[in-house]
Amino acid sequence: MKKIQTLAAAFGLICAAAMAAAPAAAADMASFKVQKHHEKVIKGCTFCHTQENAVAGNAFVVPDDKQCMSCHGTYEALAKKTDKLDEPNPHRSHHYGTGISCTACHKEHSKPAAYCNECHEFKYKLP
Ligand code: HEC
Ligand code: HEC
Ligand code: HEC
Ligand code: HEC
Repeated sequence: MKKIQTLAAAFGLICAAAMAAAPAAAADMASFKVQKHHEKVIKGCTFCHTQENAVAGNAFVVPDDKQCMSCHGTYEALAKKTDKLDEPNPHRSHHYGTGISCTACHKEHSKPAAYCNECHEFKYKLP
C-alpha cells in the first residue's frame, strides 16, 4: 500500500511539472503566428518546418522553398501570375531569374519586405 501511495505521489509531481511546462510552450508557439493569408489554411508548424529540413534535429529554422512550392506550384507558375505588374516581375528577375529564395521577400512571423528594395524603389504590394 505504502509503495502505491509513493508512486501516486511521484506521479502527481510529474503531472504538476508537465502542467507547469505547458503554458510556457504555448506562449512560445503564440509568438510565432503565421500571416493572415495562412491562418485558415495552415494547421500546424510542420506544414513548413519539416524534419526533412531540420538542422541538427531542430526543425525550427528558415524553411526550404520546396515547402512553399509544394502548395504554391513552381517558380515559373508564380512568375506567370506576376508577369503583368507595373513593376519588374519579382518572381523572374533581371539578376536572379527564378533562383531567389521565397523568404528573401515573404516572411511568416514578421513583416514582409521586398529584397529588391535594398537597392531599388519598386512599388510592390507584397503579401
Ligand atoms: C499547406 C500549403 C501551403 C504552404 C506550405 C504555404 N502556403 Fe502560402 N498559401 C496557401 C494558401 C491555400 C493560400 C491562400 C490562397 C492563395 O492565395 O493562394 C496561401 C497564401 C499565400 C500568400 C498570399 C497570396 C495572396 O495572393 O495574397 C503568400 C505570399 C504565400 N502564401 C506565400 C507562402 C510562402 C513564402 C510559403 C513558404 C514559407 C508558403 N506560402 C507556404 C498555402 C500554403
Ligand atoms: C524578390 C521578392 C520575392 C520573392 C523572392 C518571391 N516573391 Fe512572391 N511576391 C512578391 C511580390 C512583390 C508579390 C506581389 C506582386 C504584386 O501583386 O504587387 C508576390 C506575390 C506572391 C503571391 C501571390 C501571387 C498572385 O498574384 O496570386 C504568392 C502566392 C507568392 N508571391 C509566393 C511566393 C513563393 C512561394 C515564392 C518562392 C518560390 C516567392 N513568392 C518568391 C515578391 C517575391
Ligand atoms: C507558412 C509557413 C510557416 C509556418 C506554418 C510556420 N513557420 Fe516558422 N518560419 C517560417 C519562415 C518563412 C521563417 C523565416 C523567418 C520569417 O519569415 O519570419 C520561419 C522562422 C521560424 C523560426 C526562427 C528560425 C530562425 O532560425 O530564424 C522559428 C523558431 C519558427 N519559425 C517557429 C514556428 C512555430 C513555433 C510555428 C508554429 C506555431 C511556425 N514557425 C509555423 C515559416 C513558417
Ligand atoms: C544589391 C543591389 C540590388 C538588388 C538587391 C537588386 N538590384 Fe536590380 N539592379 C541593381 C543595379 C546596380 C542595377 C544596374 C546594373 C544592372 O543592370 O545589373 C540593377 C538593374 C535592375 C534592372 C534593369 C533596370 C533597367 O533599367 O534595365 C531590373 C529590372 C532590376 N534591377 C530588377 C531587380 C529586381 C526585380 C530585384 C529583386 C528581385 C532587384 N533588381 C534587386 C541593384 C540591385
